[in-house]
Amino acid sequence: MSTEDTAGTVRIAIVYYSGTGNIHRLATAAAAAAEQTGAQTRLRRVPEYVNESLAPGFTEWTQAWSEHAEAVRHLPAADIDDLEWADAILWGSPGRFGLLAAPLKHFIDRAWPLAARRGLVNKVMSSFTSTGAPHGGQEGTILSLNTVFYHWGAIIVPPGLADDIQLAPSNGNPYGVSSVSGPKAVPGRLAENVTDDNLAAIAFQTRRTIEIATALRLGSLAGATR
Ligand SMILES: Cc1cc2nc3c(=O)[nH]c(=O)nc-3n(C[C@H](O)[C@H](O)[C@H](O)COP(=O)(O)O)c2cc1C
Repeated sequence: MSTEDTAGTVRIAIVYYSGTGNIHRLATAAAAAAEQTGAQTRLRRVPEYVNESLAPGFTEWTQAWSEHAEAVRHLPAADIDDLEWADAILWGSPGRFGLLAAPLKHFIDRAWPLAARRGLVNKVMSSFTSTGAPHGGQEGTILSLNTVFYHWGAIIVPPGLADDIQLAPSNGNPYGVSSVSGPKAVPGRLAENVTDDNLAAIAFQTRRTIEIATALRLGSLAGATR
């Protein structure tokens, strides 16, 4: 995205990790929604930090994981500079035992020097997830990300139920948009369980994040002139 960097134009980075494509699909929809608002947009995937499957014996999952990794290999990987660049960061992670996925945590840990020089203070953060089961720990996953943001002195913007799309049957999590992928990743049919309503909800969450970040940006610009 090459929107001109005017004073009120928000910079949003969508930073995500996806093992089998669900979060990737939501992140891609978020980036499209961000671009539609005119925000400067970076879509950045966090790659694996190991080369082998977590569970080679789970052959279907491993095949799905390899298929996704191959499909996104050409896309730009996240860098700590993307966090510094952005006014707002939309984070996506699958729920793994109710927590964010380890590759994303590994990336977050690399933000230590940036956080230490207060480089993340007052940036706007919002998160989304995907889990296998509807009660498989979506809130826990988002809260684990929010806990990091508290440390950074960032400003957390949840979607809440601030739009009707959040009330659609496959949505409803006010902590952050959450899709449900079902019990198995199916090779050749990745992310098919992400619904149109999930995609509309992540578009709403993205716009809301940009709206709040814009208000903060304009407010701080006004303050700077006093
Ligand atoms: C190691 C591991 C742990 C997981 N833990 C949970 C969990 O606690 N609850 C749940 O509902 N799903 C769990 N899942 C399933 C994923 O959250 C789910 O498949 C998700 O949709 C994957 O998103 P992705 O395709 O973007 O990787 C786990 C998957 C893996 C590989």
